[in-house]
Amino acid sequence: MTSMTTRRFLKTASMMFAGLVLAACGKQEPPAAAPAASAPAEPASAAAAPAPAKVYAVGTDAAYAPFESQNEKGEIVGLTVDVLSAVAQKAGIELKFVNTPWEGIFNALAQGDRDLLASSITITDERKQTMDFTNPYFDAVQLIAVKANSKVAKFDDLKKLKVGVQTGTTGDEAVTKLLGKNSTSIKRFESTPLALKELEAGGVDAVVADNGVVINYVTNNPDAKFKTVSDKAFVPEQYGFAVKKGNAELLEKLNKGLADIKADGTYDKIYAKYFGAAAAAAPAEAASK
Ligand code: ARG
Repeated sequence: MTSMTTRRFLKTASMMFAGLVLAACGKQEPPAAAPAASAPAEPASAAAAPAPAKVYAVGTDAAYAPFESQNEKGEIVGLTVDVLSAVAQKAGIELKFVNTPWEGIFNALAQGDRDLLASSITITDERKQTMDFTNPYFDAVQLIAVKANSKVAKFDDLKKLKVGVQTGTTGDEAVTKLLGKNSTSIKRFESTPLALKELEAGGVDAVVADNGVVINYVTNNPDAKFKTVSDKAFVPEQYGFAVKKGNAELLEKLNKGLADIKADGTYDKIYAKYFGAAAAAAPAEAASK
C-alpha cells in the first residue's frame, strides 16, 4: 500500500513536472522563435532591395475599342490603357489590367477584387455614392447607330422601335428613360459590340452607346452599312477612373499623375494616336453634326 502510494506520488509528481516543463517551453517558444525568424529578413530586405511594389489590379471591360479592347495577343490596349499607364508612370505605381465583365465591374471594386477601374466609366452622381472618381480624362456623349436607310433622325424617334444597349451603361439609362422602365423594346447586351452586331443582324432597329465606340465600329465595319444620329438631348458625359470609396491615397496619386500628363503634352499625344491631332474634338464634333 505504502509503496503504491509512493509510486503513485512519484508518478503524479513526474507528470506534473513534465507538464511544467512543457508549459514553460510552450510559453517561451513563440517569443524566442519570432525574433529569430524576422531578424535576418528585416535588415536584408530593407537595406538591399526595396520591398516588392504593390501591383494595382485594374478592372477593364476590354470590349470597347478604341478605349479598351484586346489585341491578337490578348493584351488589353486602347486610349484608356495608354492614359492610365502614363498616369501610373508619373505616380510611380505599377498596374496590371484585368479583363472584367462590365456587369460585375463595380462589385469587383467594392469587394476589393480590383484596386481601380478603367473602363470608359462615365462619372455620374449615382455612381459617386458608391465609388470615388478621378478628375475626367475624356469627354463623351451618347450617339445613335442605325442602318443607313433608317428614317430615325432624332432620339425621340426611337420611342416605338427596338433599341439595343449595353446593360447598365449610361446608354441603357438614357433609353430606359425614353422608352420606360418596363419597356420590352429595350434589348440589353453584355457588351456594346454585341448590341451593334444585333443591329447588323436586324434584331434591333437602333443602338445607343458612347460616341467614340459607335464611330469606331461604324468606321471599321463599312459592310454593316450603318449611319450615326446625334441629338442635343443627350447630356455631355465624362470618363473617370474609379477607386474604392474612401481610397483617398490612390485617388490623389492618380489625379496628380493625370494633371502631370495633361501639363507635359503626354495626354495630347495619346489622344492624337487614337483620334488624330487636328481633330482634337473629333468624337464630340461628329456627335453634334
Ligand atoms: N460610358 C458608359 C458608362 O459609363 C459606358 C462604358 C462601358 N465601358 C466598357 N468598357 N464597356 O456607362
